[in-house]
Amino acid sequence: SEQDENFRPNFHFTPEKNWMNDPNGMFYLDGTYHLYFQYYPEDNVWGPMHWGHATSKDMITWEEQDIALYPDEKGYIFSGSAVVDHNNTSGFGKDGKTPVVAIFTYHEPEGEKKGEEDYQSQAIAYSLDKGQTWTKYEGNPVLPNPGMKDFRDPKVTWDDINKQWLMALATTEKTLFYSSQDLKNWKKLSEFGEGNGAHDGVWECPDFFPMQVEGSDETKWVLIQSLNPGGYNGGSGTQYFIGDFDGTTFTPEKNMQNLEEKHNYWIDFGRDNYAGVTWANIPEDDGRKLFIGWMSNWLYAQEVPTSTWRSAMTVARELKLIKENNEYLITSQPAKELQKYRGESLQKENIKVDKKTVLLDSSEVNLAKAEIHFSFSGLSDGEIEFVLSNSEGEKMRILYDHAASKFKMDRTEAGQVNFSDKFSGKNAVAPRITKSNSMNGVMILDKTSVELFLDNGKTVITEIFFPNQPWNEFSVKSESGFVVDSLEAFELNFNK
Ligand code: FRU
Repeated sequence: SEQDENFRPNFHFTPEKNWMNDPNGMFYLDGTYHLYFQYYPEDNVWGPMHWGHATSKDMITWEEQDIALYPDEKGYIFSGSAVVDHNNTSGFGKDGKTPVVAIFTYHEPEGEKKGEEDYQSQAIAYSLDKGQTWTKYEGNPVLPNPGMKDFRDPKVTWDDINKQWLMALATTEKTLFYSSQDLKNWKKLSEFGEGNGAHDGVWECPDFFPMQVEGSDETKWVLIQSLNPGGYNGGSGTQYFIGDFDGTTFTPEKNMQNLEEKHNYWIDFGRDNYAGVTWANIPEDDGRKLFIGWMSNWLYAQEVPTSTWRSAMTVARELKLIKENNEYLITSQPAKELQKYRGESLQKENIKVDKKTVLLDSSEVNLAKAEIHFSFSGLSDGEIEFVLSNSEGEKMRILYDHAASKFKMDRTEAGQVNFSDKFSGKNAVAPRITKSNSMNGVMILDKTSVELFLDNGKTVITEIFFPNQPWNEFSVKSESGFVVDSLEAFELNFNK
């Protein structure tokens, strides 16, 4: 319908038709980034899961491909990962062709219905044409269910430090680690997470990898662990832990050994970034940790006001590990490839804000495809209200309370909200991690989403919205006053 196309993002990935959730099996090979995704091609709500497929030269512009994996008599194809098996450890390689191996969860819907516990197991498939077509391994499952409800979402990486394939797998309240030499035989190493961090939901979609601390030679291991519900703002969310890994056991940093339910280590504090994981096989001379997430939330994902297609992915992001005040933190920024789409730079400087001030309007930049950089100073106690608004008087409010060091996202008046009482009932809250009287940030806008990367990506907030007309103004209001030292906006060149 027309509305569906009005809401379809200008550049964030959406399937042409029907339902999508988690990103799966992302890998890079020979100039192409692959993105698979939880997909139900028959309807606009969740159903028997397939792996859809899209490819890109830059992780920004995507081309949808044929469905990669179909459900079969062993079950639905749930979330998982893919690796490029350069040394043919799996033996799937043939005629000098490098196998790509996908590791996914089989979900047996019948078993679930009957109330059994063991209806999820891990299986593999391989591709000899660089991810285009796949053959399921006849020996599946490679990791049968040991009698655990929720036993899914294998994320496999080559652990070059300990020379092993390493699988992080989620079960209800913990992450399980397994190792293998051939991707077929898996041995349990250890478990992590019981009683640590947020647990008001089921742990899903882990990711586990080493990262170098910015500006040093130090390496730490990062565990990304989504859960649903029980995210920072309820519903779906993605927390992380940082620590050491000795090849068998993950030991978090001291300050992360007994995290409370409500802690500050989240990949994103907004309501719409879930089940995100990182790309495999990024060349060493690039070395980035590149991430993408599902830009929705199980609280309302199946009710959002689009019908021909449902759900988008976040923009691809680069994760970094930093150490500040003796604490490790993950930051995110939009992948630098997005910069290639920048149009002309529009710059404004030294804007003193005390009453309502229009920062940008749609005659200057199209606010449905924009990248906006800002830096503020002179922040003082009192609230600052940023507003995206349209000709219908609808608005998306982004509030910053300096005294409380908190952001709030208010989408109660951001257009269509009544499709679910979970969508806008409460405001989302995000802590400001940095304490300072100045602030910088980047805001990425598409037709139905805002992604905020504040203080060099230390606080990230991603939220979706459904305005009945495009935003035509970005303004700010503050009683206490502050200064916009600089604002640089780019319209992004996407022709849709
Ligand atoms: C997370 C999730 C995964 C599961 C998949 C099913 O959103 O529930 O745990 O594999 O979605 O589609």
